[in-house]
Amino acid sequence: MTARSFASDNGAGIHPRVLAAISAANHGHASAYGNDEWTARAIAALRDAFGGGAEALLCFGGTGANVVALATVTRRYDAILCADSAHILNSECAAVEHYCGGKLLPVAAQHGKLSPALLAPALGPTRGVHHARPRVLSLTQPTEWGTLYSVEELRALCDFAHAHKLLVHVDGARFANAAAALDVSLAALSSQVGVDVLSFGGTKNGLMGAEAVLVFDPALAEEAAYARKQSTQLASKMRFIATQFEAYLNDELWRTLAAHANAMAARLAALLSDVAGLEFVCEVETNQLFPRLPRAVLETLQQEFHFYTWRENDAVARWVTSFDTSHDDVEHFAAAVRRALHARA
Ligand SMILES: Cc1ncc(COP(=O)(O)O)c(C=O)c1O
Repeated sequence: MTARSFASDNGAGIHPRVLAAISAANHGHASAYGNDEWTARAIAALRDAFGGGAEALLCFGGTGANVVALATVTRRYDAILCADSAHILNSECAAVEHYCGGKLLPVAAQHGKLSPALLAPALGPTRGVHHARPRVLSLTQPTEWGTLYSVEELRALCDFAHAHKLLVHVDGARFANAAAALDVSLAALSSQVGVDVLSFGGTKNGLMGAEAVLVFDPALAEEAAYARKQSTQLASKMRFIATQFEAYLNDELWRTLAAHANAMAARLAALLSDVAGLEFVCEVETNQLFPRLPRAVLETLQQEFHFYTWRENDAVARWVTSFDTSHDDVEHFAAAVRRALHARA
């Protein structure tokens, strides 16, 4: 068995309750493409959790979910404003531009976070049809730097966007980690603050390739359905994705798993808080940590543990904890980091 690593929450397996649900759904035949009882129940559960008369569309990829969400709310001549750290900008092979057309407009963010003040200069007068039409503000919650928008910050951003005729998309590949960290409901971070469309991740938190797009304006439901099929995210054997969401939402399993991953990150940060030679470049608020270490120490650690160097120029690494990261994993890793730093001192 491959050891648990701190490279990505995608490295973790499938939670046993989710795997059991898949197995339980594996009998007989079911209608394809979501016309089955599991999908009906999963959609009802998602609607309950997100409120606001949400329409829920199940998908199987995070990039795909972002494409479906953004294709639902844009035309080929539209611009999508996003943080300069956004996954849709840097890590999705221009999938959004490819499928949606239009343009991504990066705005310099602070530790992944945007604010009305940072966005305002990007929304000055345009030359009309000579510019792509600013149409969507895409936020990531939690951000690519593991930081969080509070409920109030999200509401202010949604109000600001709507006042500028922008719709709001949230890339919530780790949305569960945000809701768990802030101790709020999924609805409190989405429909209740004015988010228009959300990519709700599951894969990074114990599901097996299962994501959902939540569309909060019922008038856009048909657009979303076509967008999902055209962008190849309509699964034929949908029941096996749907059953995962049922298990995930039941008793808020998502919260238990995300809270654990967050707690393991907090523990790791605490164990290393007083070590000379290491500093976290931003606050550890969810399950991602970004330590700056002497390059040689990074390289030593990477011989034993798998994790990525996130920013090459000043040797910032990314460590990610998962729903199955154990206390022992964290203690063992923290001790290795301390040893490597000591050896350099
Ligand atoms: C913030 C964010 N959004 C979207 C994705 C895309 O997910 P996938 O790799 O499943 O396409 C990721 C994956 O790392 C991510 O971190």
